[in-house]
Amino acid sequence: MAATLGEDTHMTDSGSTAPPALNSTRGNWGGRFGFILAAAGSAVGLGNIWKFPYITGENGGGAFVLIYLICIALVGLPILIGEVMIGTATQRTGVPAFRTLSRPGSPWMGFGWMGVAAAVLLLSYYGVVAGWTMHYAWLSITGTFAGQDAETIRGVFGKVFSSAGLNLSWQLIFMFLTTLIVLRGIKGGIELASKIMVPLLGLMLIALMIKASTTDGFAQATDFIFGMHGDDLTPGGILEAVGHAFFSLSIGMCCMLAYGSYLKRGTNIVASGTAIAGLDTLIALVACMVLFPITFAHGMDPESGPGLVFMNMPVALMALPGGSFWATIFFILLFVAALTSAISLLEVASSYFIDDLNWSREKATIVCGLAITVLGIPSALSGVPEGIYSEVFFGKSWFDGIDWAVSNVMLPLGGLGVALFVGWRMSATLRREVFTAGSPTLASLFGGWLFVIQWIAPAAVIIVFLQAIGVLDIGMFFAEAPAAELDTATTTD
Ligand code: TRP
Repeated sequence: MAATLGEDTHMTDSGSTAPPALNSTRGNWGGRFGFILAAAGSAVGLGNIWKFPYITGENGGGAFVLIYLICIALVGLPILIGEVMIGTATQRTGVPAFRTLSRPGSPWMGFGWMGVAAAVLLLSYYGVVAGWTMHYAWLSITGTFAGQDAETIRGVFGKVFSSAGLNLSWQLIFMFLTTLIVLRGIKGGIELASKIMVPLLGLMLIALMIKASTTDGFAQATDFIFGMHGDDLTPGGILEAVGHAFFSLSIGMCCMLAYGSYLKRGTNIVASGTAIAGLDTLIALVACMVLFPITFAHGMDPESGPGLVFMNMPVALMALPGGSFWATIFFILLFVAALTSAISLLEVASSYFIDDLNWSREKATIVCGLAITVLGIPSALSGVPEGIYSEVFFGKSWFDGIDWAVSNVMLPLGGLGVALFVGWRMSATLRREVFTAGSPTLASLFGGWLFVIQWIAPAAVIIVFLQAIGVLDIGMFFAEAPAAELDTATTTD
C-alpha cells in the first residue's frame, strides 16, 4: 500500500492545516524523459562549459577530475535524489513542500525561502553572463572577429564588460526569452524547450569535439584531463570540486525540488537522478575535450582562469580553418546551455507564487521575470568603470559579491538543509516509498543512500561551508602557496 502524505505523522499533527488545494495551473511533465531532459538542461549550463574547464585547468587536470567524479557520486547525486524526492513526495515547490512535510511556520521552511532568494539572485547575474554569450555569438555570426589580430579579439571582453549599454540590452533580451519559455508552462514551455535545446546542445558539442580532435592539441589535452600529474591538487582544489558539484547539478536551491514536483509519484527517481548527474558530468568532460585541444593547439595555457571562454577561446577558434563558423557554434552552444539553466531558476521563483499564493502562471512569471531583470541591473553595470556598483561589498563588485554569497553560502547551506531534512526529519515511510518506487533493486540501494545522506553529505557540506566563509582555512585562497605547506593542512578539521 502506498504511503500517502496524510500518513506522515508530522503532517497530520499540524492540525487544521491539511495541505492547501493545489493550484490547478501548476502543470506536470509529459513523462519521465521530459523531466530528465529538462533537469539535465538545468544542470548543464555555464558551470559545465565555462567554469569546469577553467577550474580543471587551475587545479592541474586529471587528479581534480577524479576527485570531482567522486564528489558527484558521493555527495552530489545523493542530495540530488533527496531534493527531487521532496518535490515528488509533496507535489509542491520549495516553501510549501517543506511546510507540508513539517508544519506551518517550521524553521525548515527557511530552506524554501532561501531557495527562492538564491534563485532570484543567481539568475540576476547569470542573465548578464548569458548576455555576453549572445553578444559573442552575434559578433561571430556577423564575421566581426574575422581578420582581427589576437590582441583585438581579446580586448573585446574588456569592452563588453565595461559597456553599460551592451550589458543591459543583452541581459534584457535574454531575460525576455527566459520569461517567454517559463510563461508557456511546464509541458508546453520548459519541457518542449528542453526537448529541442538539450539535443541541439549535444550535437553542437559533438561537432566541436570532432573538430577539436583534428587539432594538434588533442593528445596533450587527453593526457591533461585524464592523466595524473603529481602534486597539482591542493586541499583547496578538493573543496572547489565539492562546491562545483553542487553548482553544476543545480542542487541546493530547490531547483531540482521544483522540477521533481511536476513528476508523478511512483517514478523511479534514482534512475532519473543518475541519468541527470551522468549527462551533466559527461558534458562537463566533453567541454574540456573541446576547450583544451583548441587552446593547446594554439599554444595557450590551460590555467588561464575565467577568461578562458571569452578571451582565449575566440582567439583559438578564429585560428582554425572556418573560424567564424566554429566560433558561432561555440557561442550558440554557451547561450543554449545558459538558457536551459535560466528557465529552471525562473521556475523556482515563479512556482512559489503559483503554489503558495495561487497566482496564475502568467502573472507569477511576468512579475518574477521583471523583478529579476531589474535586480540584475547592478550586475550588468558592475564592470562599468565610473559606475557605482564596481565596489560595493568590501571591495568586491556587486556582481562578484552576489556570486560569492550564492555559490559559497546559499548553495552549501541549501544542500545541507536538504540532506538533513531528508535524512532526519522527513517521515521514514514516505522517504522509503518515494525512493524505492516499488522496485526491489532500488530497495537494496536504500540503506546505502540513507547512510550517505544522513552522514557523509552533511559532513562534506559543513567542511566546504566553513572553508568558504573563511572559518576553516585549508588553502583554497592560497592556491599559489607551495604544495608541501598545504599538505600539512589536510588534517585541519
Ligand atoms: N547548473 C547550472 C550550471 O551549471 C546553474 C544552475 C541552474 C544552478 N540552476 C541552478 C545552480 C540551481 C545551482 C542551483 O551553470
